Amino acid sequence: MLSSLRSKATAPPEFRRLVRSLARMIAQDATADLPTRDVEVETPLGKAPGKVIAHPVRIIPILRAGLGMAEGVLDLIPDAEVWHLGLRRDEETLLPEEYYRKLPDGRGPDATVLVVDPMLATGGSAVHACKLLKRAGSHRLKFLTLIAAPEGIARLSGAMPDLTIHVGVIDERLNERGYIVPGLGDAGDRLYATS
Ligand code: PRP
Ligand code: URA
Repeated sequence: MLSSLRSKATAPPEFRRLVRSLARMIAQDATADLPTRDVEVETPLGKAPGKVIAHPVRIIPILRAGLGMAEGVLDLIPDAEVWHLGLRRDEETLLPEEYYRKLPDGRGPDATVLVVDPMLATGGSAVHACKLLKRAGSHRLKFLTLIAAPEGIARLSGAMPDLTIHVGVIDERLNERGYIVPGLGDAGDRLYATS
């Protein structure tokens, strides 16, 4: 699936499908340790024990490309909340510029917050997002990504030592324009056919 995602021959409809499926897989791994509580349901033949996730789950896609991953996480946890953060990377400085913010405040401190973005390149966008959320009172934070550069992992884990990072694959390096090599190109453009 990752190979198809990377291939320049893969068109946006299939690219979106792959991002969604891969995000669901990574979310399974990232949510496997969430606390659960016991429940009992009535089947047509009697009572059956079960478990549900004990605390709310919040998905924070970093716009635009994170939207593609949010769909996959929702496939796994349909009643998760979805909040949004719009960041665009300046092509010269490679610094994130924020253009939209609708994030949870400190309410529900037990909630698990899954920040999703398919690309972790310099790490600037991820650090910006996770720091904002932590300052606003989100403590159970996890970052889910599909392709990461070693530079991005080092920067994010250095800035936020308590954060768990779930990665599909770690690539070789960044190029001089801050793109992951071999990577997949520009994830937002490939998702939404805007190249
Ligand atoms: C991409 C990607 C990340 C960011 C990663 O988004 O989806 O958000 O770049 O780069 P960084 O680790 O160096 O910060 P971009 O800013 O291109 O916006 P888009 O999703 O709207 O295309
Ligand atoms: N953003 C992308 O979409 N791709 C990269 O390789 C780096 C940042």
